[in-house]
Amino acid sequence: MKLGIMGSGDIVSSMLRLFKALDAYQCKALFCRKVSEHRGQELVKKYDIAKLYTDMDAFLMNDSFDTVYVAVINNYHYDYCKKAIIAGKNVICEKPFTVTYEQAKELIELADRHHVMIYELCRNVLTNNYASIKEHLAKIGKVSMIDASLCHYSRRYDDYKKGVIAPVFDASKAGGSLYDFGIYALHFIIGLFGEPHDVSYEAINGEDGVDLAGCLILRYTDMIANVSLSKIANAPAYFCIQGEDGYISSNSSVMYIKEVTLSQHGNIQTIAKDDPNNIFEELIMVEKMFTSKDHGKLAKCLHDTLICIKVIDQIKRRGLNEDKANIDK
Ligand SMILES: NC(=O)c1ccc[n+]([C@@H]2O[C@H](COP(=O)([O-])OP(=O)(O)OC[C@H]3O[C@@H](n4cnc5c(N)ncnc54)[C@H](OP(=O)(O)O)[C@@H]3O)[C@@H](O)[C@H]2O)c1
Repeated sequence: MKLGIMGSGDIVSSMLRLFKALDAYQCKALFCRKVSEHRGQELVKKYDIAKLYTDMDAFLMNDSFDTVYVAVINNYHYDYCKKAIIAGKNVICEKPFTVTYEQAKELIELADRHHVMIYELCRNVLTNNYASIKEHLAKIGKVSMIDASLCHYSRRYDDYKKGVIAPVFDASKAGGSLYDFGIYALHFIIGLFGEPHDVSYEAINGEDGVDLAGCLILRYTDMIANVSLSKIANAPAYFCIQGEDGYISSNSSVMYIKEVTLSQHGNIQTIAKDDPNNIFEELIMVEKMFTSKDHGKLAKCLHDTLICIKVIDQIKRRGLNEDKANIDK
């Protein structure tokens, strides 16, 4: 797959290392804003990328790549993806796909009309370890509860406390724990159990309204999923899916699924192992899905992406309405 990269931030540096290790990906060009040109120059030099652009239209007209990797701040995903689709490029977009449900639907429909493929890179669900959880789920019987924790003290929180606000801590740029971490939990749960019939989110908000931490609850007919999210505290990562006949659990987070065990009536069995190559699995599968034009598989992925964004959008809108209700009083 021939790639054009959009962005020059932290995740682009990390992903370029992964792309370099995979024969299936060839990075042909990089676009960043003029203000980030110095970073762009370092990256193209380090990773031997043929061309650097600070003009987006010129970048999108380059036909040495067919697919764009969009890795900018959350509130720009929609604009960048839209331009790339209109230019006839396939798109791999960083999580969270978009800020709103309407944007997500529009991009998927637009990609369809332009005969290109678009996918949200989320790292946890297109992996063999996640597939193993799915495969063993029926063995634990009727599930009543999922309990999970995804809490990591962000180095950018130190800056936030000094008043220097990175996009990931900026509510106006769709920052916060729910967009940043909650999306992993949503993909994990929705991929197994589908759309919840109700959701709630109790958050610890910063002064500007950004959710620094929070408890996310998804309600299903006979099941509750309860997830602790935080960007301001470190806590042990885990998840546990509790069923009438056993449980599936891990001391890793729903973001990077490492070793997973299945416990049935006192018998404990390892069903997934920690493997440094896990990190490549999604990229390999996406490349296969795009090159073989596997629209069936993509449709399933996008179906879940839409539900995840719908849930976040629902929570955010509810929060806004509550704020408005308070102001109106
Ligand atoms: N960092 C991670 O570990 C990680 C992991 C998974 C997913 N992600 C996702 O990757 C995306 C980027 O995250 P990051 O950690 O790389 O962020 P970052 O280091 O803060 O980089 C931000 C990127 O967004 C662009 N940007 C910043 N302000 C902008 C503005 N006002 N207008 C337009 N573009 C702006 C910059 O583009 P220019 O280069 O053009 O200036 C830069 O590439 C996010 O959607 C995040 O959810 C990050």
